[in-house]
Amino acid sequence: MDTTLPVIFDCDPGIDDTIALLGAFVSPELDILAITPVCGNQPLDKTLRNALQICELGGRPEIPVHPGCHRPLCREPIHGQFHGSTGLGNTVLPEPRKQAEPTSAVECLIDHLGRAARGAAPKVTLCCLGPLTNVAMALRMAPEIAGGIARIVMMGGAFREPGNRSMTSEFNMLADPHAARIVFSAGLPMTVLGLDATHQVMLLPEHVNAFARSSGPISRTVAELMAFWDRNDARRYGSRGGPLHDPLVTVWLLRPDLFQSSPARVFVETESPLCLGQTVADWFGKSGEPANADIVTHVDAQGVIDFYLHLLARYARRGAA
Ligand code: BDR
Ligand code: CA
Repeated sequence: MDTTLPVIFDCDPGIDDTIALLGAFVSPELDILAITPVCGNQPLDKTLRNALQICELGGRPEIPVHPGCHRPLCREPIHGQFHGSTGLGNTVLPEPRKQAEPTSAVECLIDHLGRAARGAAPKVTLCCLGPLTNVAMALRMAPEIAGGIARIVMMGGAFREPGNRSMTSEFNMLADPHAARIVFSAGLPMTVLGLDATHQVMLLPEHVNAFARSSGPISRTVAELMAFWDRNDARRYGSRGGPLHDPLVTVWLLRPDLFQSSPARVFVETESPLCLGQTVADWFGKSGEPANADIVTHVDAQGVIDFYLHLLARYARRGAA
């Protein structure tokens, strides 16, 4: 990458969100304009606090953090099942000194994307790691901001894989299906890392040990977070460990060569009680509608793990935290 890529991380930290952010923080190729937490894995007060703590842990307290939506657009909130009661497993981080910004996530998105849409700043890549409530709200309030989005790179959806939170649906889609429908209908360039992609990259206990050995001053925290992520249940994934969902967004930004994707039209179910939040991909033009997303279908799993080890090893060299 020759120039830095302006990005905003919209997220709900969240253990895997935390790992994704820690990787991004030590990537000089990325210009992180803001972090916009949303209600998701935990209620907003917790995801916001976690985001502030993670910025301090990763030695990036200067990144603005803007509080997002407290609730999904229409449905009642649901929260993650694998992140513990704080959202960070058993990990206890110091009380943050850093404060959230006074303006909301939606205002932040409208401000940055609006400037880019007017040509006053480069277009921004939105990195979405949680339910899409903030992004959908911003698009509804100021539709012209679509012109300021270079691409949405998101973790969410389940296409040929079954769901992980319901039989049909992936958590981020189920947590705010109406927001997901708005975003998929916005006609934006989108790269989608759903369960089809993330289930290819399992964080095994031996990987956790390797990360713990390599990430210098944040090693203990990384090891604790990753150990909590282990499902201890080989029935579903064929091994111990947990899927490395959100960090794949960070890796895709930096090493797209590790991924293969196919274009498809994505529809999001918002009515059916049985299939709420299901993402249905039209791979073969059955709907007569054009593709609206590149769905990642294949991942070089070993390449991703090796690259992430290389990223987090930068903390050892930098001596942050
Ligand atoms: C997604 O749901 C959340 O629990 C994770 O942080 C990830 O974004 C995986 O389905
Ligand atoms: Ca997440």
